[in-house]
Amino acid sequence: MSRLVVASNRVGDITGGTQSGGLVTALGDALRDGNGLWFGWSGQIVDTDDKLGLTLERQGAVTIATQALTEEDYAHYYLGYANRALWPVMHYRLDLAEFDSAALEGYREVNRRFARALAGLVSADDVIWIHDYHMIPLAAELRALGLENRMGFFLHIPFPSPEIISAVPDHAWLVDTLFAYDVIGFQTEQHVANFGRYAEETAALVTPESHPFRAARRKLKVRSYPIGIDVEAFKAMADTPEAEDRIRRLKRGSIDTHIIGVDRLDYSKGLPDRFRAYRRLLHLHPEHAKNIVLMQIAPPTREELAAYADIRMELEQLSGAINGEFGDFDWTPVRYVHRSLARDTLAALFKGSRIGLVTPLRDGMNLVAKEYVAAQDEADPGVLILSQFAGAAADLAEALIVNPYDADEVALAMHLAVGMRREERIERHSALLERVRQRDVARWRRDFLRDLRDGTGGATAAA
Ligand code: G6P
Repeated sequence: MSRLVVASNRVGDITGGTQSGGLVTALGDALRDGNGLWFGWSGQIVDTDDKLGLTLERQGAVTIATQALTEEDYAHYYLGYANRALWPVMHYRLDLAEFDSAALEGYREVNRRFARALAGLVSADDVIWIHDYHMIPLAAELRALGLENRMGFFLHIPFPSPEIISAVPDHAWLVDTLFAYDVIGFQTEQHVANFGRYAEETAALVTPESHPFRAARRKLKVRSYPIGIDVEAFKAMADTPEAEDRIRRLKRGSIDTHIIGVDRLDYSKGLPDRFRAYRRLLHLHPEHAKNIVLMQIAPPTREELAAYADIRMELEQLSGAINGEFGDFDWTPVRYVHRSLARDTLAALFKGSRIGLVTPLRDGMNLVAKEYVAAQDEADPGVLILSQFAGAAADLAEALIVNPYDADEVALAMHLAVGMRREERIERHSALLERVRQRDVARWRRDFLRDLRDGTGGATAAA
């Protein structure tokens, strides 16, 4: 079988074991099975071009190939275009998006350079699987260098409606580069439909000069491949003696109901709205006082960007205000942790919490929702409260689905979850667990790689 080559901005440690999440768990086996290659940014920032290098490292059967970024690349490609332009737009936050031509040029330049480095490492029959919004034009750049390999792209974040994406200057160029792939994967049917609508609505404008890849009409398959988790591995982490000990420590004291939220401190996660909904709950239902606590774990992320510094201040202010207003000498209603915790600690916290609160304003999928379900004690499970705007909501209908902008609705869901009888909790949870198991990470990988490798059947010609 042909070798798998993966490209993504962040490259994980393939030897990381159970503590690593994300793409490492998702792709580790597939890379190991086929003597694969994983290419991406080394995480290093250097001051001049001549120090960029290309580092090759063997981790078992897998080759890890990484390159540094210069300070300028980091400012333009990573902070500027990927995270100040694309990230907010894809999450429907045009108010936070900032566009500048130097950032766009940096993004193109880094993708061009990545393509040159990667082209020297792949053989003709390798299949190339590229991930996420940092590397959208990578296939186009590889094609420009003459590579004819099968190439697939998976977008981990939402593909928004055409009205939104059209706000990006040069969106026509950006979307055109997607047509250099053979397979494009999105998280949900809605993202597929958004992409299809964009393609349809702009089809009349396609000329070889303005849209070279679309005009070339390569056969393209576009499908949703909802990403999942390794359910048994996560469940196992929640079932160890250490996890039991952590749960005992969590439950020390008089609190009946622990509510848990775990999100990178990103404005797309709706954390201030979540805190305001919790404050509403405490107002409307004073009977919960001293029986309930909201534990929010919010690891820092992209702190150089103003929008992230702002959200941090807002959240610190809000948690302080709620604790000041409702707290007592023997009760702290909000516990806010601005740090990342080990995955096995999170698994224990999920299991020990009666309510999992996952209320992003917009999210590609959201794996915390799935992890929360996997970690529960099946005989006495907790309740998942899930935003209708998370990709996961398409799969997890038995959660309490809420509009995260509606504080009353989220407060009501929390109130219902506190009082929910065990039979109903079990019924909802077993349906959710089945769905999380069906759509696990192995299936995501299998389905995508099958389509990437065979390239026949069921093609959606989105051009
Ligand atoms: C999201 C993106 C990933 C990204 C991660 C962490 O999950 O989809 O591509 O790696 O956030 O963000 P960071 O900017 O630290 O890579």
